Amino acid sequence: MPLKVSEILESELYTKENLVTLLNASLEDSELIFAKAAEIKEKFVGSKVFFRGLIELSNICSKNCYYCGIRRGNKSPVRYIVSEPEVLEAAHYALDNGFGSMVMQSGERIDKRFIGYVEALLKKIKILSGGRLGITLSMGEQTEETYRRWFEAGAHRYLLRIETSNRELYYKIHPQDARHNYDQRLEALALLRKVGYNVGSGVMIGLPFQTSEDLAEDLLFFKEQDIDMAGMGPYIEHADTPLFKFRDLLIPKEERLLLSLKMVALLRITMKDVNIAATTAMQTLAKDGREKALRAGANIIMPNLTPLKYREGYLLYENKPGTNEQVEDSIRNLENQIHAAGCLVGYGEWGDSKHFAKRKYDSKV
Ligand code: 5AD
Ligand code: SF4
Repeated sequence: MPLKVSEILESELYTKENLVTLLNASLEDSELIFAKAAEIKEKFVGSKVFFRGLIELSNICSKNCYYCGIRRGNKSPVRYIVSEPEVLEAAHYALDNGFGSMVMQSGERIDKRFIGYVEALLKKIKILSGGRLGITLSMGEQTEETYRRWFEAGAHRYLLRIETSNRELYYKIHPQDARHNYDQRLEALALLRKVGYNVGSGVMIGLPFQTSEDLAEDLLFFKEQDIDMAGMGPYIEHADTPLFKFRDLLIPKEERLLLSLKMVALLRITMKDVNIAATTAMQTLAKDGREKALRAGANIIMPNLTPLKYREGYLLYENKPGTNEQVEDSIRNLENQIHAAGCLVGYGEWGDSKHFAKRKYDSKV
């Protein structure tokens, strides 16, 4: 007889089978999961939420992921790269508003020019902030040398989502060629750890063909990889992508949001002291999606500081919010949402993953 939700939470036995039961929990039982996650969050990371000012640096991408609106094969978006003065202006904004950190995210490019541009930006942000701004990068798979160069230039966290830990599903949502290789992605995660980054990963939730078993495996994968941070969100279909033809297989958006919130809560429960982002994709499915994610266990929010003129170009999925929102408005909204969720903003702090600090400490003693 499988255990009931309350029994699993009581026993704290998070086996694959039990995680599947939790992922399939009813709306009512989900509240038990969220309550447990809130308790663990308070105990292990506290009630502070950290802002990371997000710059979507460029939508130029050399890859062709089947789900993504800015994939190379999509001819619709006007391709852009944010200029250096614009990035530095955003860095100033982050600093002036007490954000402890920035995140620079971009389509994947491995050419020298791009690598050099990112390196130069990192150095300038470090100089202009007197080292006060922490920097996270999310620029896909790169060589060890590139990861090292960027690390030495000042980036100290890196997000690389595995997208799904199920190898077969990975190849259903990516082209089968040398640039989209599951093992290479695993290798990249190992390199990031070796170089010394706080390492983040994540998955999309509610993909066509994805099962609760897959999501349970994803949670076990994060644990096995001993990740420091996570960014997860619902998969949202985009009409200009190959995966759109499977839209009839998707679970309804409300369920997809609930499932995503359960994933956040279960990651908080199973890994306790990691940083978890309340992602924009959550907000796409419900106006208060990020607030819900905070209540479910997330502790990081990434207000978008990309200049408005570029926002339309970074539509990874449909109805992505914030394309015509003024930064100041969205920050005020966010602060209200954070307070409504019973949390505080950790102004001026990097807010690094406690998990990372612990694993560094443990490796020294
Ligand atoms: N729905 C949700 N998330 C998406 N991403 C890309 N396309 C989509 C989509 N259609 C996410 C991927 C990627 C990150 C930059 O955006 O997880 O890692
Ligand atoms: Fe490029 Fe990332 Fe989109 Fe894949 S998900 S096409 S790597 S931007």
